[in-house]
Amino acid sequence: MNSSHQELFRSRFESGEPQVVAATDELPLWSAPFGLALLEMVKLLPGMKVLDLGCGFGFPMLELASRLGPRGEVTGLDPWKPAIERSEAKASLRGITNVRLLQGEAEAMPFEHQSFDLIVSNNGLNNVRDVDQVLNECARVAKPRAQLVMTANLPKTFSLFYEMFEMLLEDRGMKAEIEALHRHIQSKRKTSAEWRELIDKAGFDVRKVREESFTWSFLNGTALFQHWFIHLAFLPPWMSILPKDQAPEFFAFLEGRLNRLALERGGLHLDVPFLCLDALRR
Ligand SMILES: C[S@@+](CC[C@H](N)C(=O)[O-])C[C@H]1O[C@@H](n2cnc3c(N)ncnc32)[C@H](O)[C@@H]1O
Repeated sequence: MNSSHQELFRSRFESGEPQVVAATDELPLWSAPFGLALLEMVKLLPGMKVLDLGCGFGFPMLELASRLGPRGEVTGLDPWKPAIERSEAKASLRGITNVRLLQGEAEAMPFEHQSFDLIVSNNGLNNVRDVDQVLNECARVAKPRAQLVMTANLPKTFSLFYEMFEMLLEDRGMKAEIEALHRHIQSKRKTSAEWRELIDKAGFDVRKVREESFTWSFLNGTALFQHWFIHLAFLPPWMSILPKDQAPEFFAFLEGRLNRLALERGGLHLDVPFLCLDALRR
């Protein structure tokens, strides 16, 4: 066991070196429930080559590399440069040497045919530009009988919120905006049956689909709309559904409705159903 780097890492952590402390505080809360299901679903084998598509800040890529040990290798692919740099910094600080990070899109992977024994994507495939093209690329770079494990949230994500959103649009007769809201939900969230079909069509046998759910509870609508992650990831597409000049007033009204609902129900409880799918390359 070569633990000198890990001992140095621990002593730098214990002395409170900010960079090292930051590298241990790594997991985006949103990603965690999806990733825990994914980590349970993968089968680790000695010396295997793994690909993480849309690896973001390095989860679950760095965890997989650490669980696999130095004989295997994990490659992370993501088009977003700051995420690649952050993942590289974490890997280097933690002394994880069996990872390789590449900036690029999964629609055109810079890999040879049949390169990988395992391909994972934690909330990644549902965020690419062209999912058919990406799945064809997965089939090309997967070795025969390679495992594919992916997670994605399902159409009923935050459904209570979307019902309130739609009700308010209906009250105001905003038909085009209702259609835009449906298109937004459908573009981001496929059903289990749709994922199964796409993945089968690309050349993988789907073995298992596990559906799970977690709940994000907020005090009320005001807290929801001020939450930093909601601002970052959800609010911009929600706002874009409405004409710019009407959005502020509409969301202030929706906030009031959500606050009333939260009072009646003892909080605003938003469910996030998701799937974890396990498939094998034919
Ligand atoms: C919701 S994040 C998930 C990140 C990480 N896997 C996690 O679980 O925290 C989606 C990631 O997909 C990446 N992404 C977007 N388009 C992509 C593409 N065409 N090919 C590969 N990754 C892409 C984004 O840059 C982002 O890092």
